Amino acid sequence: MDLDDAPPLYPKGTPTPPHPGGTPASLKQTIADQLEAVRHRSLALLDPLPEPDLVRQHSPIMSPLVWDLAHVGNYEELWLLEAVAGLRAGPKSLDDVYDAFQHSRAERGALPLLGPAEARAYIAGVRTKALDVLDRVEFLPEHQLLGNAYVYGMVVQHEHQHDETMLATLQLMEGEGYRPQAPMPPRGRRIDTPEVLVEGGPFEMGTSLEAWAYDNERPAHTVDLPPFYIDTTPVTNRFYLRFVEDGGYDDPRWWSEAGWAHRQKAGLGAPQFWRKECEGVWTRLRFGWREDLSLNEPVCHVCFYEAEAYARWAGKRLPTEAEWEKAASAEPGGGKRRYPWGDAPPSPELANLGQRYFRPAPVGAYPQGASPWGCEQMIGDVWEWTSSPFTPYRGITGSPTRSIRRSSSSRRTGSGCCVAARGPPTLPPSGRRSGTGTSPSGGRSSPASAAPGTPEVPCAASWPTSGPTSAWSPCSSPLPGRCCARATNHAS
Ligand SMILES: [Fe+2]
Repeated sequence: MDLDDAPPLYPKGTPTPPHPGGTPASLKQTIADQLEAVRHRSLALLDPLPEPDLVRQHSPIMSPLVWDLAHVGNYEELWLLEAVAGLRAGPKSLDDVYDAFQHSRAERGALPLLGPAEARAYIAGVRTKALDVLDRVEFLPEHQLLGNAYVYGMVVQHEHQHDETMLATLQLMEGEGYRPQAPMPPRGRRIDTPEVLVEGGPFEMGTSLEAWAYDNERPAHTVDLPPFYIDTTPVTNRFYLRFVEDGGYDDPRWWSEAGWAHRQKAGLGAPQFWRKECEGVWTRLRFGWREDLSLNEPVCHVCFYEAEAYARWAGKRLPTEAEWEKAASAEPGGGKRRYPWGDAPPSPELANLGQRYFRPAPVGAYPQGASPWGCEQMIGDVWEWTSSPFTPYRGITGSPTRSIRRSSSSRRTGSGCCVAARGPPTLPPSGRRSGTGTSPSGGRSSPASAAPGTPEVPCAASWPTSGPTSAWSPCSSPLPGRCCARATNHAS
């Protein structure tokens, strides 16, 4: 299956559903398009793999790929069939096998999983019935699931998230490697202004209007910030390499106490998948294939501690989550954008989304996607580290987790992807980011006075219990603080 034949991941000339002025019929068509698009994405992702690679557990921190495949169908069955219409497509026994809360990833290879052909048939059967239900369903405004068609947005986004998870598995896969057919991303360009000043004052953080936003992205609330500088682009491999070659991994001055302990325990010496060849050239493993390090791409596969250390070495610091969101979406003098570039839906000219290239684009590739302050590539390419813990906004209850990542990458393409999107860290026990394209690349930075000594917070049950925390030491740079290094997590 060729990705170029895929249905568009971006809405067809309409805002992300549900959209103002849309009719129930047009909303249903948009939902059907998005369900089709994400399924095409999932199947295209796994299409190049032989059956043994679909079934094998490639890493104890990831599921067998065939588990993810059937799980997205089972999730769809639970929500779009059973919850919405009281219907089933498969046996109830599948619910336990594909319940992420019942079985850790390390155990899933031993479960009685559907084989690849059975899994494909199962999810196709669920989809057929789900589309029948969609034809008949009424989006009752007061209904918790059906109001604004929320449950459909949840299912679409869930599958996009699993596509990202499967990309992480593919990056960790050993053996012959995975070589997807994909075009090269647009060319980058020289960035003459490496950082921009974001004026102080209040701005609106989060959202109360995005109908498909998750609870942890709500509600909209006012946050008042002092002025700060932030990097124009994600930190590149070129700049991160300077940190490496300057002995950054051997100098405890740049690391927090917890970060240095982790660096020692894990034996870190460079981003995961990097290797210095005998001629002194650095290479990187990408989906099992080694290639020369692409110096103008955002750095990937670095953990929170590495991003934090890089920022301090650069004389900067990681931005807080509020600083990141203000730089991405607030307009000077007031106003809030849905996306950094405005309210137009994402397009291939604005952001790198949906595993279109199976790699981050070089910095400077998306000048049209800049935020009002001039920050580029704040959606797509990579997740970015911030110094803030992942906690609920006011009025929302839930367990905080570790430092939060911002910027959507390959997930939620055209289906809820906006600057309000948030995400907890997904760190394997080594503290590294795994996956194709996730890594704090040095991040961007924020005011020196922000977030002093943020305490370590408990992590959610689904996250590893070791690895980086959100602890942050105030940096010594003068105000307005310089948020360094937009630490970026790789994306597709
Ligand atoms: Fe899931």
